[in-house]
Amino acid sequence: MPVIVVANPKGGVGKSTIATNLAGYFAKQGKNVMLGDIDVQQSSRSWLRLRSPSLPAIASWEIAEGTIAKPPKGTTHMVLDTPAGLDGKRLQDAMRIADKVIVPLQASIFDILATQSFLQNLLNHRSKADIGVIGMRVNIRTRAADQLAQYVSNLGLPVLGYLRDTQNYVQLAALGATLWDLAPSRAEKDAAQWNELLQWVER
Ligand SMILES: Nc1ncnc2c1ncn2[C@@H]1O[C@H](COP(=O)(O)OP(=O)(O)O)[C@@H](O)[C@H]1O
Ligand SMILES: [Mg+2]
Repeated sequence: MPVIVVANPKGGVGKSTIATNLAGYFAKQGKNVMLGDIDVQQSSRSWLRLRSPSLPAIASWEIAEGTIAKPPKGTTHMVLDTPAGLDGKRLQDAMRIADKVIVPLQASIFDILATQSFLQNLLNHRSKADIGVIGMRVNIRTRAADQLAQYVSNLGLPVLGYLRDTQNYVQLAALGATLWDLAPSRAEKDAAQWNELLQWVER
C-alpha cells in the first residue's frame, strides 16, 4: 500500500492541490484511497467535506496529534497533505511512513531558495522514500522553467512534470472535485500534464 506524502515548507505552492487531485485520481481508478492532512489549516480535510457523495469516494485518514494510525483493512492508497513549515519531529514522522514524497515547486528564485534546505535535508536523511519534484504553475516555454529543471537535476532528483497555471484547479477545489471528476474532454490538457507524475507514483 503506497503512502504518498506531499510536502514543501513554503505555503501556497500547491501541496493541497496535488494531494487532493492525486487522491481523486486513485478514487477514479476505483482504488480504496485515504486522504490525510497534518496541516492545522486542514485544507484537504475541509475539501473532503465539500466533496459530493456522488463522486468517487475518498476516505478521510484521521490523524490525531501527529500519531498516524493504521489504515483500515482494504485501503490500497494513502495520500498525506502536510503544512507549510514542516520540520523536526513532524517531518520525521511523515518521512517514516512515506514511500514517495512529491515536492511541488514554483519556478521562481524565491520559491527555490525557500525549498533548498528542505530538499537538502530530505537528501541527507535519505529514507526509503523516493523523492520527486513537480513544477507548479509553470509555463514550460520560459527561462524560469529551464532554471527550475536545472536546479532539480543538479540535486539528482527527477522533475515529474509541470502543471500550468489555470483556474481549473481553483474552481474544482471549491466543489470538492478534481480533474478526474470532469468529463475527459474538459480535462484533457491538464490531465495530460499529470502523466509522468502518475507513472512515477504507480511504479
Ligand atoms: N496550477 C495551478 N494553477 C492555478 N492556481 C493554482 C495552481 N495550483 C494551486 N493553485 C492555487 O494556489 C493556491 C495555493 O495552493 P495550495 O494547493 O493550497 O498550496 P499549499 O497547500 O502548498 O499551501 C490555491 O488557491 C490553489 O487553488
Ligand atoms: Mg495546503
